[in-house]
Amino acid sequence: MMLRAGPEHAAVLAALHATSFAAPWEAREFETLLSHPGVVGCLFLDGLPEGFILVRAAADEAEILTLAVIPKDRRRGVASKLMHEAIAILRSGNAAALFLEVAADNVPAIGLYTRHGFAECGRRPDYYSAGRANGSVDAIVMKYSLTNP
Ligand SMILES: CC(C)(COP(=O)(O)OP(=O)(O)OC[C@H]1O[C@@H](n2cnc3c(N)ncnc32)[C@H](O)[C@@H]1OP(=O)(O)O)[C@@H](O)C(=O)NCCC(=O)NCCS
Repeated sequence: MMLRAGPEHAAVLAALHATSFAAPWEAREFETLLSHPGVVGCLFLDGLPEGFILVRAAADEAEILTLAVIPKDRRRGVASKLMHEAIAILRSGNAAALFLEVAADNVPAIGLYTRHGFAECGRRPDYYSAGRANGSVDAIVMKYSLTNP
């Protein structure tokens, strides 16, 4: 089941985020983000919460702020469902392009985004370093056109 996430889901999103990132975001950060009118959250549940996506739209651009699926439910299409839902919502608004930043060594995420039609449009050298044992890694900036059919 797909739900629109609101501030009342902040704790659930924080718990899901903590399963997937070394630097978890706190529930109150999600609450603040989800209270913002330009931010859209989608939450996927199959009995229990399995994953979520958070996007932010401003003028004619949007960005994926974060996306996570809990480890045991990965590779079953949950992130793809979340991406489709977020893109459908953004298409009904004013955004023409959707951007994201992903660590150059995040093979699953780059695979997901490439499969969904995102293309690299820039790089931020050594962007990610915190908590990494093997030095820093570039951020790849990727773009998806929301105006394509
Ligand atoms: C990236 C992430 C959200 C993918 O979620 P998911 O539900 O497993 O993704 P899906 O099942 O929808 O995968 C869709 C496609 O993405 C690609 N993909 C997903 N996981 C992959 C992996 N481990 N290796 C290579 N490609 C992968 C494949 O093309 C896959 O299609 P396929 O299974 O038919 O081959 C998940 O791995 C995750 O939460 N990772 C940790 C958090 C994270 O890195 N978020 C993104 C930050 S930018």
